[in-house]
Amino acid sequence: MMKTVHSNAELREELAFVRSQGRTIGFVPTMGALHEGHRSLVRLSKQQTDVTVVSIFVNPTQFAQGEDFDRYPRTLESDAKILLEEKVELLFLPDAAEMYPKGFATSVHVSGVTELYEGAIRPGHFDGVATVVYLLMHEVEPTILFLGQKDAQQVAVLKRMVQDLRLPVMITVGETVREGRGLALSSRNRMLDEEALSESDALYAALQTVRNRVFLGDDPEAAKRAGIAKFERIATHGKLDYLDIVHSETFQSVPSFERVGAPVTIIIAARFGSTRLIDNMKIDT
Ligand code: PAF
Repeated sequence: MMKTVHSNAELREELAFVRSQGRTIGFVPTMGALHEGHRSLVRLSKQQTDVTVVSIFVNPTQFAQGEDFDRYPRTLESDAKILLEEKVELLFLPDAAEMYPKGFATSVHVSGVTELYEGAIRPGHFDGVATVVYLLMHEVEPTILFLGQKDAQQVAVLKRMVQDLRLPVMITVGETVREGRGLALSSRNRMLDEEALSESDALYAALQTVRNRVFLGDDPEAAKRAGIAKFERIATHGKLDYLDIVHSETFQSVPSFERVGAPVTIIIAARFGSTRLIDNMKIDT
């Protein structure tokens, strides 16, 4: 039986009971519009912990003015059905007043990694993400936090926050789930029109091109040029925001593969009309 709670107090009460029995808690924070990617995170949580908590909260503070907060898909009925199917124990559905009571004035800022790429294009976005995830984790106190690799920079930001604030939680990162031609599943895919949908696999194709070129011995610049050319051949209407090869933790661009000494990630973002899509691929160099 899945229990749905709306307030921090109810959530704490439910979880105090779980904790008193010595059971571990898995937490999957979401903004709803759930898809197979979320489902796979829930399954990981079910495998790795005793009780799974999922939150659905379209967090206003991570959307800048003029972004897609209002048109972000809200599909609570089908979301609840998925979570029931997956036998999630607890669904947390706070509203904005519960998360940010009147007078709320604090934000969690992780510096460095938040200033680049998504952070540069969406100022304030990662402050919103870090703050809401901090608040949610403060209430849930999970044993393991489950995040999707699709949002690689978000993962880097939240890992940094957990480490710096010494939060007693482990993080499991779930693999990106893709559609047949490689498009990474995202709640925003629902906002793509037919033309954009038909071009959207350009992101994955470009990532694959870069990865292949790196394996064939290209340096980062040459590999990126090939990836951009691939993207532009497929997505004649889409506009590339960036394609880069970065250090997986700091998101600093990698100018050369010599002495990187750390895992690297190919990252890409593009606009299709008013919808932005992001994707990434980790590579071993
Ligand atoms: O990835 C998301 O859906 C959101 O950024 C998150 C982690 C739920 C915070 O609002």
